[in-house]
Amino acid sequence: LVNKNFRSGKLRFSSSIEKSISEAKAIFIAVGTPERRGDGHADLSYVYSAAKEIAPLLKRYCIIITKSTVPVGTSLEIKNIIKKYNKNANFDVVSNPEFLREGSAIEDFMRPNRVIVGFENEKSKKIMENIYQPLYLIQTPILFTDLKSAELIKYASNAFLAIKISFINEVSDLCEKVGGNVQMVAKGMGLDNRIGPKFLHPGPGFGGSCFPKDSHSLVHLAETHGYGFSMMRGVIAVNDEQRERMVRKVQRAAGTNDLNGMTISVLGLTFKAGTDDLRDSPSLAIIGRLRELGATVRAYDPTTTGRLSRIQDSFLEGINVQQSVDEAMREGDVLVILTEWPEFRSLDFEQVKELLSGSAIVDTRNLLD
Ligand code: UGA
Repeated sequence: LVNKNFRSGKLRFSSSIEKSISEAKAIFIAVGTPERRGDGHADLSYVYSAAKEIAPLLKRYCIIITKSTVPVGTSLEIKNIIKKYNKNANFDVVSNPEFLREGSAIEDFMRPNRVIVGFENEKSKKIMENIYQPLYLIQTPILFTDLKSAELIKYASNAFLAIKISFINEVSDLCEKVGGNVQMVAKGMGLDNRIGPKFLHPGPGFGGSCFPKDSHSLVHLAETHGYGFSMMRGVIAVNDEQRERMVRKVQRAAGTNDLNGMTISVLGLTFKAGTDDLRDSPSLAIIGRLRELGATVRAYDPTTTGRLSRIQDSFLEGINVQQSVDEAMREGDVLVILTEWPEFRSLDFEQVKELLSGSAIVDTRNLLD
């Protein structure tokens, strides 16, 4: 897509902000908002420095759109920053949160469930309508609202999906205690279209660059405004506990709490399948705990064969990353599946038995029959 649109001249790249900004009618700020070290708030420094850089370059009317995931009030703060650094700037701010998932971003962009636009006046609304014209043609619901509601819709949506995951993870725990198959329970619940079948897959807990940081950020936002948001705190606590539960499952499978001298074979390092992202991956947290308990970990992930960036490699320190499933399984006392990569569905169990020195599999994603 990049090549095609680059060749046709629709897409241009420049390292000169001046050149890019001066002709623009609409400027999207889409920089990262990672979790700030120490206090769990979203780090808005990249957003604000983008606003500061843009401000002096604005020569004619344009709209400045926030795509980055930001706490309520950020768009108005961007407006203040721009006014501060350019008294004559003629602009409006818009909030247009993104809902793309890693691994299916293009599909999500081309055929979104909905588009949310927070705006302040008709002029900016018109430009947004123009930008999303192709989506009108496929009847995508586009919700126009105020700036703060748009910002909150993003956080509330991610938080709600996180609630579903933590909920089903708790139900899975209950199923194990009382007897019951959580997959059937989820299926039965999901058939009610008020509930829906999605995001009811139990597993080692949610991870990635969004849910963990956005749930923390929402709790902190609420706290700043004197509100406890106990449900979200519960969701985070359940998610942390879920990782520990997976560690306990491995201990049970190993037949000992002390994993000294044990080799644990791990399949899957990324936070979900379909991405090479290791940020806040439950897999790495669980591996970290297994190593603390004395285990040696041999791990395989389809994305670790030469595709990981150097930044991500630092996540893998201390883990024996192998180049194949077989190598990861060799002499493992317990085999643990932590990411739902399709290739782990079709393990050759004769081979598994031959390679492992133990005979237990912990399938944290319910991938196997
Ligand atoms: C998520 C949202 O789905 C996007 O809509 C949003 O735009 C994005 O965050 C963001 O804020 O940028 P993503 O982080 O790519 O997208 O991943 P998801 O597919 O939502 O999965 C998140 C985590 O939940 C993963 O660790 C996944 O394994 C876990 N999960 C998901 C479950 O444990 N069970 C499920 O049923 C679904």
